Amino acid sequence: MTTTFGDLGRGIRQKELADTVARLGRKYLIFSGKGGVGKTTLAVNLAWVLAKSGRRVGILDIDLHGPDLAAALYLDANLTADDKGRLIPVEVIPGLWAMTVQYLLSDANQAVMWRGPRKIRAIAQFLGDTAWPELDYFFIDSPPGTGDETLGVVNMIKDLTALVVVTGHRLAIVDAHKAIGCLRQSNSKVLGLVENQASLVCPACGQAIPLNDPTKVESLASQTNLKILARLPYDPLAVAQAERAQMPLAEASPESPLTALLKELAQSL
Ligand SMILES: Nc1ncnc2c1ncn2[C@@H]1O[C@H](COP(=O)(O)OP(=O)(O)O)[C@@H](O)[C@H]1O
Ligand SMILES: [Mg+2]
Repeated sequence: MTTTFGDLGRGIRQKELADTVARLGRKYLIFSGKGGVGKTTLAVNLAWVLAKSGRRVGILDIDLHGPDLAAALYLDANLTADDKGRLIPVEVIPGLWAMTVQYLLSDANQAVMWRGPRKIRAIAQFLGDTAWPELDYFFIDSPPGTGDETLGVVNMIKDLTALVVVTGHRLAIVDAHKAIGCLRQSNSKVLGLVENQASLVCPACGQAIPLNDPTKVESLASQTNLKILARLPYDPLAVAQAERAQMPLAEASPESPLTALLKELAQSL
């Protein structure tokens, strides 16, 4: 049975939601104050690496107005439903299941124009009305900041742990600081910071060239009392390899220092 965009209108069913959430294993919210800092990239690569190491992993895109999960996975698909009418997540590779609103849109360039309650219902359906298998890890790729989608999911999943992605740019740090405060007010656990694009891997010599003053993220860490879990470089060669292979960079560029750090971070979760 093919499910379309128009079917997503039902109310939140608390029991289905609680039953599903209990099956999702360790649940991580990939979060940031600012857009474009690397949340989707991080979510996809952590999920991919863990699935390749034999774990069962789910990834849910709640960036309803900028859903990038399908593009980041280089995978187009349409969602189908099971005989109980539950959405079936798309199995990307063995052990990795993905769900994004993109898979409900008939036109890849169509935009979602939902507001508050409609968005919350859609996310509740992506959790409770979806046939997620029993998982070890569940990653939620979020839009920047603490809007309806993110606060909605924090409310629906009480044992969610946030990883805050930040770059060393001043405005990314300012926004991260505010957003961390708001997350904490919503009682979400915050595990730590991931500094992305901390340096540039030189395509010619492989040396890491610092891109920003490292003390900026260190000072954010001390002011928010959070650990820096990883400092990831920007690797243009890995991006080019990913584009060529149409695969996430951890798969396409196994030799990259970025991949090594992503693997280390994934294993620590
Ligand atoms: N460490 C990195 N090395 C190379 N490219 C990166 C890295 N992190 C992110 N990018 C690229 O930067 C762009 C923005 O990242 P994205 O994950 O979409 O950010 P967000 O989800 O926070 O908006 C993407 O095109 C992604 O491929
Ligand atoms: Mg994103």
